[in-house]
Amino acid sequence: VGPMGRGLAFSPIAPVPAAVDAFVVPQGYRWSPIIRWGDPIFSAADRFDPEHQTAQLQSRQFGYNNDYLDIIQQDGRHSRKAVLVANHEYTNEGIMFPPAADDAQADEQRHIAMMAHGLSIVALRRKDAGQPWVYRVGDRVNRRITATTPFTLTGPAAGAAALKTAADPDGLTVLGTLGNCAGGTTPWGTILSGEENFNGYFRSPGVSAADARYGLADRATGRGWERIDPRFDATTPGYENEPNRFGWIVEIDPEEPNSVPVKHTALGRFKHEGANVIVGTTGHVAAYMGDDERFDYLYKFVSTDTFDPSGKPRARTHNKTLLTRGSLYVARFAGNSPQSEITGTGQLPTDGQFDGTGRWIALVIDGVSQVPGFTVEEALINTRLAADAVGATKMDRCEDVEPSPLTGKVYVACTNNTDRGKIGREGATEPNPRTANRDGHIVEITEDGSDATATTFTWNLLLVCGDPATNTSTYFAGFPADQVSPISCPDNVAFDVEGNLWISTDGAPSTIGLCDGLFKVPLEGPERGRVQQFLSVPRESETCGPVIRAEESMVYVAVQHPGEGGSWDAQTSRFPDYVPAGTTPAEGAWAGPRPAVAQVWKVS
Ligand code: FEO
Ligand code: CA
Ligand code: CA
Ligand code: CA
Repeated sequence: VGPMGRGLAFSPIAPVPAAVDAFVVPQGYRWSPIIRWGDPIFSAADRFDPEHQTAQLQSRQFGYNNDYLDIIQQDGRHSRKAVLVANHEYTNEGIMFPPAADDAQADEQRHIAMMAHGLSIVALRRKDAGQPWVYRVGDRVNRRITATTPFTLTGPAAGAAALKTAADPDGLTVLGTLGNCAGGTTPWGTILSGEENFNGYFRSPGVSAADARYGLADRATGRGWERIDPRFDATTPGYENEPNRFGWIVEIDPEEPNSVPVKHTALGRFKHEGANVIVGTTGHVAAYMGDDERFDYLYKFVSTDTFDPSGKPRARTHNKTLLTRGSLYVARFAGNSPQSEITGTGQLPTDGQFDGTGRWIALVIDGVSQVPGFTVEEALINTRLAADAVGATKMDRCEDVEPSPLTGKVYVACTNNTDRGKIGREGATEPNPRTANRDGHIVEITEDGSDATATTFTWNLLLVCGDPATNTSTYFAGFPADQVSPISCPDNVAFDVEGNLWISTDGAPSTIGLCDGLFKVPLEGPERGRVQQFLSVPRESETCGPVIRAEESMVYVAVQHPGEGGSWDAQTSRFPDYVPAGTTPAEGAWAGPRPAVAQVWKVS
């Protein structure tokens, strides 16, 4: 705790019913938006005017549906300068745009939506540590990445035949990034972002095993981008491989606004939630990654080369190559209790823990396939099929996966899986112990030897989520369930300087009837497992980010899809401007909902 000396002490907020359209913070804290959908990034002239939006303007404004967030402080802990990085996962056309009058207007809205995807990088300034930030229009580092920004493919599958298209006969350059969900900032200062639900953007032949496994089908997409750009129709000759060029981890250097971002084939292709990197005891780096689909898998990449910590410019250049070469593993868990004790109800087995051992099964080692019948290109492009072949453990939708910077233990947010135990689907297993798992759970993994590059580990469930007042299947690491905040559908995770885990949620309105929120959970000592709610986000929104700066008494979250149940003519959220009914919004404000990055700071 620095000069501010106040930490992040708080009294948990009371849970907020799902219909409430408010951003709620604990007593003694205040909040404000830093940047909202449509805010100009390069010039104040690019004013947000939702009635007269254009693709050109949107390409110069903050995008929609911010998910991953980091606030990278440039001159250390108490800096007055920072760079904000946010992903823009997808668009909600029905509330962003008035109903299209004709095909031409519908197509223009599609072009705007393309420009609202991707990422934003924006400079921040403030007067002092612990004080709210203001973003800087037109700063040197400001950048927008959209659905048309060129990316270079790296790694063993770059240039593969299955990555070539009519527009890119070399299979090395992809336009755009889509479905960017969670992410991570690397030890060398770059941003990793996961391309998650890319399948929904493409019409595909839908006949191959890979198409079936990745949810690619021969039907018109909801967005209809195939109407305005043939590459989104993989039934078009020359574009059969376009969907193979999405579903990767991308890396972007926020310090170099003119650098070409990359897509790393060495980290495999699936519905990448995100990636988080830690340096192992041997200097090799490990990236932990989830595939967010029911019954899909948990992965780890380990670099062939080692991290250079020297901080020299040459070191940074070297470190930016670490994710281009290495080994890709998928997790296989084993429980240590008899299967007969895993009842599907969440009841603890007689040893008192959902726990056991595990193994990282190699799909690729140093660029060589380990899966019989798969070339390295096939194992990396159709990674789900390769992982099926080696018998990986089917998980309950791995969202964010992050190693603790203090202990190296890895935390996996399994958000939910209501299909577990359904007829024809896998039933309860010790690492996924509930059938019809509506509320999700958190897995805690300890790598053997505390080395991130180990191939064996032990594990236990930290939390089995839900509202303990109405649900007997919850578990809070043994902490009394009547003293915790209800929590459902864990999604993103983060750590504070004291090593506490922070969890943001996505889905609580439809499971426990509460707005989503942000929760703190101590991992050590007598308070281990005590879930405490810090904030609550507005109606129909998901809590993303989060960034916890306890040393400055500050917290940041990305508020994604507020009011997503509404429409242009009947908006259901007014976040974050809360323009009073019947009044004219101030310049740049809007009465409808705007996904935004919010900052929370302590005032007393
Ligand atoms: Fe975009 Fe898996 O959440
Ligand atoms: Ca056990
Ligand atoms: Ca997510
Ligand atoms: Ca989610």
